[in-house]
Amino acid sequence: MRKKVDFLVIGTGIAGLSYALKVAPFGKVCIVTKGEAVESATRYAQGGIAAVMYTPDTYEKHIRDTMIAGDELSDPEIVRITITESTERVKELIDWGVAFDKNPAGKYDLAKEGGHSEFRVLHHKDQTGAEIENILLQRVRENRNIEILENHFAIDLLTQHHLGEEVEKNAREIDCYGAYALNKANHQIITILAKTTMLATGGAGNVYATTTNPPVATGDGIAMVRRAKGEVDKMEFIQFHPTSLFNPAEKPSFLITEALRGSGAVLKTRQGKEFMQKYDARLSLAPRDIVARAIDNELKISGDDYVCLDARHLDMQQILGHFPAIYAKCLSIGIDMTRDMIPVVPAAHYTCGGIKVDEFGRSNIHHLYASGECASTGLHGANRLASNSLLESLVFSHRAAQHAAGLAKTSKFLNEIPDWDAKGTVFNEEMILITQSLKELQGIMTNYVGIVRSNLRLKRALDRLQILQEETEDLYEKSVLTEKICELRNMITVAGLIIQMAIDRKESRGLHHSIDYPRQYGS
Ligand code: FAD
Ligand code: SIN
Repeated sequence: MRKKVDFLVIGTGIAGLSYALKVAPFGKVCIVTKGEAVESATRYAQGGIAAVMYTPDTYEKHIRDTMIAGDELSDPEIVRITITESTERVKELIDWGVAFDKNPAGKYDLAKEGGHSEFRVLHHKDQTGAEIENILLQRVRENRNIEILENHFAIDLLTQHHLGEEVEKNAREIDCYGAYALNKANHQIITILAKTTMLATGGAGNVYATTTNPPVATGDGIAMVRRAKGEVDKMEFIQFHPTSLFNPAEKPSFLITEALRGSGAVLKTRQGKEFMQKYDARLSLAPRDIVARAIDNELKISGDDYVCLDARHLDMQQILGHFPAIYAKCLSIGIDMTRDMIPVVPAAHYTCGGIKVDEFGRSNIHHLYASGECASTGLHGANRLASNSLLESLVFSHRAAQHAAGLAKTSKFLNEIPDWDAKGTVFNEEMILITQSLKELQGIMTNYVGIVRSNLRLKRALDRLQILQEETEDLYEKSVLTEKICELRNMITVAGLIIQMAIDRKESRGLHHSIDYPRQYGS
């Protein structure tokens, strides 16, 4: 089956949906998403979206906080663009219908999170992402120019490689003409020809055994670009959120928002002793890389499985007003956060690197844009400032939409692209081959490529990954494609990128901490 659209969008989180709404006035839009449309990391965002709204906050303060959190590796121009466009983009979200909480004076109730020098995080209780996702989906579903294909898995980008043309690695002349997508219901692979393509496929937290990310976060877009010989960067910077609920049976890990620490909750050992004063003057509200490393160190010293977040001194009204979902979740496993400390551990949370894009969300493959967590704009540097991700998605989806609307007018379909060739493949009856390899992959990444790294661990990880990669490529070549085999293959590619870029970074910086290179370049 073949399809032709002006704008192909892959992913239905904040990046894909907001982009689709913006290009819809200029042509037909098809959004492909691998599960139900609502399923995305966006849906689970708790803390909120950072934006400069009122004095005493200023763009300069938010810019400075972003640069400091990013350990001075962020691109200053990209930081300035993002922050100075924050107010306008958030107002647009409000115009679409997103209801951020207000205080009794009728002003937006701004929260504070780690690394922020001001209260600037707009939120909808502790379910900001669900509010944003629902409203954007409503707006998209009302739009007659947008079609959503749910349960369709994007497998690969269409490029001139599919015409048998050889293209140099990272060459400028690679072009994208759409994507192949697997209809999960009937195993058919559709050829979607598009004038422009937007990858909004989210992050890759599932390469680790413990993550806050939903199961859809398997790094597919990043792996697709890599296979198409596009540029990917900064993959060594994987953010571990310091406070996921310690509840080992539960996957994904439930997040305890940083906004709770912003409201006064304090990190303590199981014995109730504060420890952050040993690590940073900003205590429990230091940037995430610092807090996660501090917790990791405390756990190594004590041998405990978790540390605690103490919110017992907060009043019930404050907790139920701002954090009702967290209160209910804790209560469901026997923890009353007004009386008990909350057991927490770090979990893989955010992929700072990804598909390298410019200030218009353009990748180095022509007609291919990327936005949101799968993209690397340069905003986050070596560590993302809390609540800057939803903002980044809005800003660069907007900019990409403006650019793509113009490009689509002069672009043509490449009708010569052949349909998918599934000759010689058979149904793989043995799911165990995939599930076991996935467990091995997650074990390798968690044990050797976690919060603290070393040359020896990274080398071991690379060697083990090589074996998994060979086995999985072999299985992929022979199998009728399923979502699971494609995801495993993509996660192995992404893990390889993380490990290789971690090996190449011969310093400790932000989220990448190596015991072999404890200092930054030049320090
Ligand atoms: P996502 O929202 O993850 O959407 C990706 C979409 O792509 C999904 O629809 C997925 O199904 C689809 N997809 C993926 N691969 C394929 C494929 N091969 N084919 C078809 N479809 C595909 N950030 C903040 O700024 N503030 C917060 O408060 C905050 N809280 C968070 C809390 C949690 C628990 C988590 C996990 C993250 C949080 N983040 C927060 C980070 C933020 O939510 C994400 O970075 C952001 O939502 C990413 O949006 P996105 O549109 O790029 O990707
Ligand atoms: C949180 O609410 O702590 C998550 C915020 C984020 O990841 O930006």
